[in-house]
Amino acid sequence: MAINTHSPIGIFDSGIGGLTIASEVIRKLPNEEVIYFGDTAHMPYGDKSPALVRYYGTKIVEFLIGKGCKIIVIACNTISSVIYDDVVEIFGNRVQFVNVVDPLVHGLARLEQLNKVGIIGTKGTIKTGIYERKLKELRPDVDVRSLATPLLAPMIEAGFFNNQISKAVIETYLKEECFNDIEAMVLACTHYPLIKKDIEEFYAGKVAVYDSTDFVSEVVRDALNVKGLLSTKRIGGPNKFFASDITESFDKTAKNFFGDDVHLEYANIWDL
Ligand code: DGL
Repeated sequence: MAINTHSPIGIFDSGIGGLTIASEVIRKLPNEEVIYFGDTAHMPYGDKSPALVRYYGTKIVEFLIGKGCKIIVIACNTISSVIYDDVVEIFGNRVQFVNVVDPLVHGLARLEQLNKVGIIGTKGTIKTGIYERKLKELRPDVDVRSLATPLLAPMIEAGFFNNQISKAVIETYLKEECFNDIEAMVLACTHYPLIKKDIEEFYAGKVAVYDSTDFVSEVVRDALNVKGLLSTKRIGGPNKFFASDITESFDKTAKNFFGDDVHLEYANIWDL
């Protein structure tokens, strides 16, 4: 399938988290058609072995390449941390990739006021040490405190956010001693923008909270622009949202973001 300006943008995640990225991409680039895949049947990825994340992630990339995508956004920190380099090596001659780690790290590195920063993400992401390593490369002066917060993504995926249960879980993590005196908190999981309000409320304006949605969508726009692949006119079909299991939470979150007539479709890509 030949790639041109009207080819879709592929975006994927283990579940609903990548919808936070898709929403910002769609808002910034309304002339683009988006094809989303959420692997709701296998979520959470954060607790899986790198080998299994690689297996699932590679299958999804193949699915999106099959849909003729002109760029693929790995809208999951766990997958980005574990397999970004591999997929670029394997599929990079066929399609361009954007991960969610580099845009956020570069955005953070540009901040003048950054001394002590906290990072929360899945076990898989935090175990790789990728944020600490990449941020230190650009800003050796910054003190980075990372913590795996494995309950958060499954909790959000199950629809628990902006309520008393989610607030209690969030507070327990954020009160960890390692986060004393931080001036910025980085949400290194694409599910976490869905609880950003709770996190900001916890800090009551004393700590700036950063996520990747804005930075990633800008990188997608720039990457398409550089290759002359930005669409200036909406020609593609409606945005499509595929999931390996159409869960209640996928349905609800997609509708919250994109309206009740959002196009949701079940896709079994494992038997292909
Ligand atoms: N949204 C994914 C991320 O950014 C993680 C969720 C999961 O554990 O599957 O890391």
